[in-house]
Amino acid sequence: VVAVGLGLTESSMDWGKVSGRVAIVTGAGGGIGAAVARRLADDGNDVALLDVDIEACQAVVGQIEERGRRALALTCDVANEDDVRDAVRNVAATLGQPLILINNAGVIRDNLLFKMSLDEWTQVMDVHLRGAFLMSRECQTFMTLAKWGRIISISSTSALGNRGQANYAAAKAGLQGFTKTLALELGKFGVTANAVAPGFIQTAMTAQTAQRLGLTPDEFAELAAQQVAVGRIGYPEDVANAVAFFADERSSYVNGQILYVSGGPAT
Ligand SMILES: NC(=O)c1ccc[n+]([C@@H]2O[C@H](COP(=O)([O-])OP(=O)(O)OC[C@H]3O[C@@H](n4cnc5c(N)ncnc54)[C@H](O)[C@@H]3O)[C@@H](O)[C@H]2O)c1
Repeated sequence: VVAVGLGLTESSMDWGKVSGRVAIVTGAGGGIGAAVARRLADDGNDVALLDVDIEACQAVVGQIEERGRRALALTCDVANEDDVRDAVRNVAATLGQPLILINNAGVIRDNLLFKMSLDEWTQVMDVHLRGAFLMSRECQTFMTLAKWGRIISISSTSALGNRGQANYAAAKAGLQGFTKTLALELGKFGVTANAVAPGFIQTAMTAQTAQRLGLTPDEFAELAAQQVAVGRIGYPEDVANAVAFFADERSSYVNGQILYVSGGPAT
C-alpha cells in the first residue's frame, strides 16, 4: 500500500510508538484532567498541570513523578491572556516545547434560562471557549514550528442540549466547531485537533450537579447509570483512554473528530 504524497510504503512508515513529548493539561487538579495527566505520563510524556487551584495539582505532580516522568504545576486561569502566555512560556523553558495540549479546564453554572444571570453565562463561556482559544493559540506556535502537534478539547454530550445548561451546552457545542476549524487550519503542519465528548463521568463536577438536584453523589450516579446503554456511569480513566488515542503518534490521520465517550450513542 502506497501512502500517496508521502513517498512512503506502509512497511517503511514508522508505526512504532513515539513518546517523550511535553503535554499541557488544563484543569489538571480535577477528576478528568488529573486522570488524563496520569495517562499521558504512563504513555511516556512529561506533563505540565495548569489550574486555578494549584494545591489540587500537587498530588498529581507526585503521581506523575512516581511514573518516572517530569511534572510541573502552574497557577493559570485559562481565560486570562497574560496567565496563559506566561504559563506556556514557563512550560517551554522548564520542560520543553509543549506539543500536546488538552483543553480540559471547565466550570458549570447551571440554571434555567429565565433565571440565568449574565455572569453565569459569561463565566462558562470564558473558561471553556475563551480558555481553549487562548491556550490553543499560544501552543500552536510550538506545534507548527515542530511540524507535529495534538490539540484535544473536552466537549460533552451536553453539546447536544441539556436542560439547565444553556451556557454549558453552547460552550461545549462551540468547542466542537472550534476543533473542526483548527483541524482544517493546522492539519498541513502535522497538527491534529480532536475532541472527546464525555457523558456522565463521576467527578467533583457531577457531585455539584447532584447537590443542585438535592441528591447525594451516589444517588445521582445510580440514576445516571440507568440511562446508560452499558449500564454503568463513566470514570475519568474512560475519558483519559480516548484522549490517549488522539494523542498517540499513530493517530495522525484522525483529525477534526468528536469522540463521544458516554457508554452508548449520544442523543
Ligand atoms: N464530569 C462529567 O460528567 C463531564 C462530562 C462531560 C464533560 N466534562 C468536562 O470535562 C472537563 C473536566 O471536568 P471534571 O468533571 O473533571 O471537573 P472538575 O471540577 O473535577 O475539574 C475541573 C478543573 O478545572 C479547573 N478550572 C476551573 N476553572 C479554571 C480556569 N479558569 N483555569 C484553569 N483551570 C480551571 C478546576 O479548578 C478543576 O481542577 C470539563 O471541561 C468538563 O466540562 C465533564
